Amino acid sequence: MTQRILIATSNAHKTEEIRQIMGGEWEVVDLRSHPALVLPEETGDTFEANAVIKAEAASLAVAGVWVLSDDSGLEVDALGGQPGVRSARYSGETANDASNREKLKSELGKLEGPFAGRFRCCMAVAKDGKVIRVFHGSVEGVLRVEEEGVGGFGYDPLFVPNGFEQSFGVLPPATKNELSHRARALLQVIEWLKEAS
Ligand code: IMP
Repeated sequence: MTQRILIATSNAHKTEEIRQIMGGEWEVVDLRSHPALVLPEETGDTFEANAVIKAEAASLAVAGVWVLSDDSGLEVDALGGQPGVRSARYSGETANDASNREKLKSELGKLEGPFAGRFRCCMAVAKDGKVIRVFHGSVEGVLRVEEEGVGGFGYDPLFVPNGFEQSFGVLPPATKNELSHRARALLQVIEWLKEAS
């Protein structure tokens, strides 16, 4: 029987990636189906802390269903791990994906490459206001200073995963969904849910 899982995000790109990876056994919905539910500010200084904040709040508001949160971002070694937990707001409070990429290109442009980095993802699984487990995933790669492709979202056009020549903005979604930080965390979630649900 298909079970419902609520993703504690309004980011349609994240939800679509999660839906693709979870396959047909799960009905994947997100906060767009719960417009009255407003998540608290992400005040944590780690991905895990922010994933827990989101999962707890959403699962308190929507009783009886599995809730999964995703807190993720990009770390660049040459920038001391930035943008890190501030990935979504790197270029300021009114940031969007394009302005964040501009800021990253401008910061990297001041430095000498190559630029090693990684995407990290922490996922928290919760029910009825209680976080039950957290899972982590990451993917290592290199940051480019020129955008390549228009696929994916966020910093994808600037990130080339190790072992590939093209950015996540060019690689097919199926390739990203096999090796991304999100996929690596989510595969553990799926295995765990098989036992727990
Ligand atoms: P969050 O919604 O607070 O977890 O912020 C995540 C931010 O990290 C996004 O706005 C993107 O800037 C970046 N990010 C996370 N995952 C990805 C990805 O898969 N590709 C590109 N950027 C990502």
